[in-house]
Amino acid sequence: MNIDGKALAKATKENVAAKVRECVEKYGRAPHLAVILVGEDPASQTYVRSKGKDAEQVGFRSTTIRMPESTSEEELLAEISRLNADTEVDGVLVQLPVPRHIDENRVIEAISAEKDVDGFHPSNVAGLWQKRPHVAPCTPKGIMKMLDDNNVELEGKKAVVIGRSNIVGLPMAKMLLDRNATVTIAHSRTKNLPEVAAQADILVVAVGRPRFAGKDFVKPGAVVIDVGINRDPETGKLVGDVDYDEVAPIASLITPVPGGVGPMTRACLMENTLECFLAKF
Ligand code: GUN
Repeated sequence: MNIDGKALAKATKENVAAKVRECVEKYGRAPHLAVILVGEDPASQTYVRSKGKDAEQVGFRSTTIRMPESTSEEELLAEISRLNADTEVDGVLVQLPVPRHIDENRVIEAISAEKDVDGFHPSNVAGLWQKRPHVAPCTPKGIMKMLDDNNVELEGKKAVVIGRSNIVGLPMAKMLLDRNATVTIAHSRTKNLPEVAAQADILVVAVGRPRFAGKDFVKPGAVVIDVGINRDPETGKLVGDVDYDEVAPIASLITPVPGGVGPMTRACLMENTLECFLAKF
């Protein structure tokens, strides 16, 4: 059965929208999300447009700042400083990846932790790993909401996360661990990866390769979370990291691509922006 990320994202955003209406009454303005895009990467342009649309849908003020590919690191950092200092901006996000001549870590560290709606700043990362207050990264946060919404038991279960990125794999593993799952962090070079993955009651695949995980990766009855958004090299269609046609018949629950993890990531971005706004008062 599919986990309907789109429906849960809609409900999550409606909940945010209702709170935004209260913010306007109570504090005189709506939360304001600023998104910076450097360059013209087509996938990033799509993501940034969707984030702007979602922000407007929940009633936020939304600003998209498009900077040319040739933007220097200094110019980008100056723009971030300006947004950090603007008391009427609550959330600041730089769409990744940034062009290669810009140091991604310097960008992530430059965004004020209080406005870091992505949850990528080192102090938010430390907050997650040390169980202190933090802004949680959107993709794993959204996945936890989908698991909870579908009453997936985590305590005592075996979870395998394929992928070890700062954005998804590592925080995902920590969140599952904090819910008392036993977690294995694997990656594309893990020896005997299909056998390791097939141990999982909950399998999260975040490797960024089209149809990477087939039915040999999946124990019958497992819950399968597909974080991938890839273009099929032959058809140009959007496909996940999981071979949906092979895996859906044996999984108990699976997130489709599109319509699974992606919409929930953006819904959590809206929640994080609201949280950053409310933390000011
Ligand atoms: N690029 C891919 N995923 C993300 C994300 O969650 N946030 C940002 N800022 N860039 C990304």
